[in-house]
Formats: sequence, C-alpha cells, structure tokens
Amino acid sequence: MSFKQQPKGFATKAIHSGQEAEQWSHLSVVPPIVTSTTFKQFGPADFKSFEYGRSGNPTRVVLEKCLAALDNGKFGLTFASGLGATTAITQLLSTGDHILCGDDVYGGTNRLFNKVIRNQGVEVDMVDLTNLDNLKKSIKPNTKLLWLESPTNPILKALDIEAISKVAHSYPDIIVVVDNTFLTSYFQRPLELGADIVMYSLTKYMNGHSDVIMGAAVTNNEDIHNKLRFLQNASGIVPSPFDCYQVNRGLKTLAIRMEQHSKSSLIVAKYLESHQFVEKVLHPGLPSHPQHELALRQTYGHSGIMSFYIKGGLNESKKFLQSIKVFTLAESLGGYESLAELPSVMTHASVPEDQRKTLGIWDNLIRLSVGLEDVQDLLDDLETALQASQK
Ligand SMILES: Cc1ncc(COP(=O)(O)O)c(C=O)c1O
Repeated sequence: MSFKQQPKGFATKAIHSGQEAEQWSHLSVVPPIVTSTTFKQFGPADFKSFEYGRSGNPTRVVLEKCLAALDNGKFGLTFASGLGATTAITQLLSTGDHILCGDDVYGGTNRLFNKVIRNQGVEVDMVDLTNLDNLKKSIKPNTKLLWLESPTNPILKALDIEAISKVAHSYPDIIVVVDNTFLTSYFQRPLELGADIVMYSLTKYMNGHSDVIMGAAVTNNEDIHNKLRFLQNASGIVPSPFDCYQVNRGLKTLAIRMEQHSKSSLIVAKYLESHQFVEKVLHPGLPSHPQHELALRQTYGHSGIMSFYIKGGLNESKKFLQSIKVFTLAESLGGYESLAELPSVMTHASVPEDQRKTLGIWDNLIRLSVGLEDVQDLLDDLETALQASQK
C-alpha cells in the first residue's frame, strides 16, 4: 500500500502561477521586491492597482496567487506570521461564538484560543477528533469555527478531514479550518477534502529555509476571502515585501524538497522503530501508526515531522538532545536543516500540564524535523545520541 498518487502539474504551478513576466513593464522573469509603501494616484482615489503598502503590494500579490494555485484554491492571503493568520481568522467570530478545536494542535494556537480569544467572550473546547462521535457531541448551536491540524502536533494523529468537514457542514455557519503546516499543499490539499480555509505557518516547509516568519490563509469561499482581506488590512497583520519575495522563491523548490524530506523521514522512522532505546515511533507512514490507512488514503505523502518516545524520562531526553550534532536542538520545523526538540518544555510548554499528560506529551516524547542532509549522517548522529542518552 502506498500514499495517493500526486497528480501532475504541482511543480509547474509552484514555478509559474502568478509569476507572469507581462505584469511588469520591464518583463522581469523573477518578480521584483517592490518596497514602496505608497503608490502614485492619477487623481484623488483614482489609482491603478495599489494605493498603500498595507492594503496591497505587488510582491505580496505574486506570492498570494501562487499559494492559492498550489491548493487549487481561488484566493490566497498572507499574514505577518502563522499566528497572525490564525488571529485574523478568529476575528471572523463575535462574542458568544464557540470554537471547537482539535485537542492536539500547535501550543501557540492552544495559547491564543484559550488565553486570548477566550477572554474576548468566545467559548473554546478542545476535542479528540479521531472520534467523530466526540465531534458530533461537542458541536453547540453557537459553534462557528472548527479548527484542526492533521497530522496533529506533536502526536501525529491523522484526522479524517473529509468526514469531519461533512459533519461540520451539516450544521449552518461552521467554518472548517485546517492548519496544513506539517504537510504543505504538496502532500495534502484540505480544500479538496471539504475544508473552508487552509491555513499555513509559511515559516516552515512552504518557505523551507528557516529565514522568514509568515502565515497564509487560502479559500474558495469569496465571502470568507473578502472578510479576511478586510481584516488583513484593518488589523495590519501583513508581511514585508522582502519576506514575500523569499517565500515565493522557497515555493519554487517545494516539490523536490518535500520528496526528499519524505524519503529521509521514513528511513529515520524505520531505524528508530527498531532501536532498543526507543519505546515507540509516531509517523503516519509506518504500518504501526494507528491511522496509517487513513494517511495513505488522504495524503500524497508525509513530510519530515515525526515524534518518538525515548526509553526513560526527562533525564534521558535531555542527554539525547544535548548529544545531537547534525540535528540542532531548536524549536520550529520544516527547514532544510534537521531539528529536534522536547515538546513538553518547548513548543507545547504553554499547554496545561494535565492536558499534556492526557495527550501523551510526556517528558520522553521527542519531536524531529528531518531535514535535507545526507540521511546516513542523520542516522549516525541519532545512534550516537541514543547511546549517550542511556549512560
Ligand atoms: C503547526 C503550526 N501552526 C502554526 C504555527 C505558528 O506559526 P508562526 O510561528 O509562523 O506564527 C506553528 C509554529 O510553530 C506551527 O508549527
């Protein structure tokens, strides 16, 4: 059994969509970085395409068109960060509304929903969405937003986006948002599975070079797009033209980068699964993964993200993370470089302890972002660190 077959054309879209040379008077093949914050008008309120840099910028539009095309979506918008995109989406809600959120999401999303948005009078519930009955039981008359990541973060549970969207859409007014940061539009296209908005931290794989913080929201729904476009400008959560240029450049190699991340991460996962100092590996591409078949049916492959439980506890995790040399001990993921981290005290430290315990975010759970180095060097590094962890 293998993942779904990737339709042809993704890499071509990444290279050409929105990039037409004819849009520039100098026929530039590579989109220019337009830094001007304001644009000359023919007469008062009579302008060509752009008036003010927060409201719209030519370099940003190039990137937004390319992002929309990669998800086979109609509309793309970028924001100053992934959490900036999330903030804009939550501004679609009003006091008294209810957010239903997957129980295992990025710690910063959990913090925003529970420590910021909740204070603004919006109800928030976190549920295990691997079970559709949980979803049905948790929907309330005021539920307006259903938020999920698949695979989840950092436990890597795969969620059935199509089935979840179908349930949500049997109620009026529920907007389904999928944070697709872990897989990118190359490996998973949530809009085609029924989601209303696909959200990204472009900071990760989509840019792929760990040198930009940015977020995005892509949708086919014109009403949602118009509201988010208004919020992008009204709230001012916009990225810089230089950063847009960088992400647009990063997208050009997304397909080949993701192919390599996928190959290397499966090799690393299989190696770890057979290791005496590893208790369990969480990677949707492994037959041992509880939702392996769903992952094969729903996605075109898996990225470089995986988690594993090392034998022991905090002490062993610390020794492991202090011994790695090719992997870097750091938060984040999705760059060309391999990273390792301890979610319980790093990316997910803001998740309440009882919730972390229930989810399995224990002190021996290590998350890896497998990069693009020679895979044998990665295996050698892991071996040295695993040996050191038990001394
Ligand atoms: C899955 C996921 N979603 C959202 C975010 C937030 O993105 P940003 O750091 O660009 O604000 C992150 C950041 O780590 C993430 O991993």
